[in-house]
Amino acid sequence: MIISIASDHAGFEQKQQLVDYLVAKGHQVIDQGPDTDDRVDYPDYAAKVANDVASGAADRGVLVCGTGIGMALAADKVAGIRAANIINPQFAALCREHNDANVITLSGRFVTLETNQEILDVFLTTEFGGGRHAGRVEKIMALD
Ligand code: RB5
Repeated sequence: MIISIASDHAGFEQKQQLVDYLVAKGHQVIDQGPDTDDRVDYPDYAAKVANDVASGAADRGVLVCGTGIGMALAADKVAGIRAANIINPQFAALCREHNDANVITLSGRFVTLETNQEILDVFLTTEFGGGRHAGRVEKIMALD
């Protein structure tokens, strides 16, 4: 899978570790930065990943900030994006099964690396459930 990933300064350390994790799992990773933990504005990085996914350059997106909240708010402004802020594996499964989320946003400050790795595994391997969920997702996308 082609995965676009980025963070802000608060998510930088985990972003670096998650890049290595995804590469080790055999994924093709587009690292949209930043390259240091200097202070940056998370919407700038959310836009890079969201645009990669919306354009088809990436299959999925991963964004890491302090909470994941700001990244989700920003990424969801981009047409075609369904970004979900996820802090446990159960919600990771549900955001795929029910919502067909194509971008996941993670907390680098309040969730451990190990849990975020587990969340990513679930996010990347769980299929959309379709059926009764399909029309609901279509209604979300009609709001773009
Ligand atoms: C940065 O201090 C912090 O606001 C950001 O990483 C994120 O948590 C925003 O939602």
